[in-house]
Amino acid sequence: MKYLFILVLLLVVASGGLMGMVIVLRFVNNMTQTAKVVPGERVFRMPAGVVPRGGALIPPREQRDVAARQPNPIKPSTESVAVGRQHFVTFCSPCHGPEGKGGVTGPVATKFIPTPDLTNAELQKQRTDGYWHSYIVAGGAVMPSYGEALSTQEAWHIVNFLRTLAAR
Ligand code: HEC
Repeated sequence: MKYLFILVLLLVVASGGLMGMVIVLRFVNNMTQTAKVVPGERVFRMPAGVVPRGGALIPPREQRDVAARQPNPIKPSTESVAVGRQHFVTFCSPCHGPEGKGGVTGPVATKFIPTPDLTNAELQKQRTDGYWHSYIVAGGAVMPSYGEALSTQEAWHIVNFLRTLAAR
């Protein structure tokens, strides 16, 4: 019994030691074998989406009044509205619902802070294109900003699409 105990103990110590050695060996080799970047050795391409596109200045949401005066540079053509609709479905419909009604349809809409009814004719009249553009690129009180996911032109397309939702 006693020898069996010592034998098991030796086995445990030996395997522990072996694992320890493996760790030490890997640690010692580690620094020379991992990928390293030597300055000037390689030129990396910028990952997509980290460089500003379109070169437009985006006023912060505190300056919404400034943004609200920006005119919409994109005509509400059928193409523009179609692009806007596509982006709306991707980025906005979870919270605003596919019809922009807000709080009634959509996977997030019914559980999240209720979103305003974007088809509301009164709201549509109150807000300028610039105001809504700013809402999209700079975000709202709780609404996240989409300035990084969408280019400023894409945001204008969405505004053009939102205008088609107005209840008559
Ligand atoms: C995470 C949920 C969420 C997503 C996603 C979202 N919104 Fe919103 N949105 C809200 C909430 C909540 C409000 C109202 C409260 C606020 O001001 O933040 C709102 C308000 C708005 C308003 C009304 C502003 C006003 O008062 O006139 C517009 C327009 C709007 N969103 C457009 C969009 C567009 C376009 C997208 C997609 C690019 C989008 N939202 C994505 C939650 C969201």
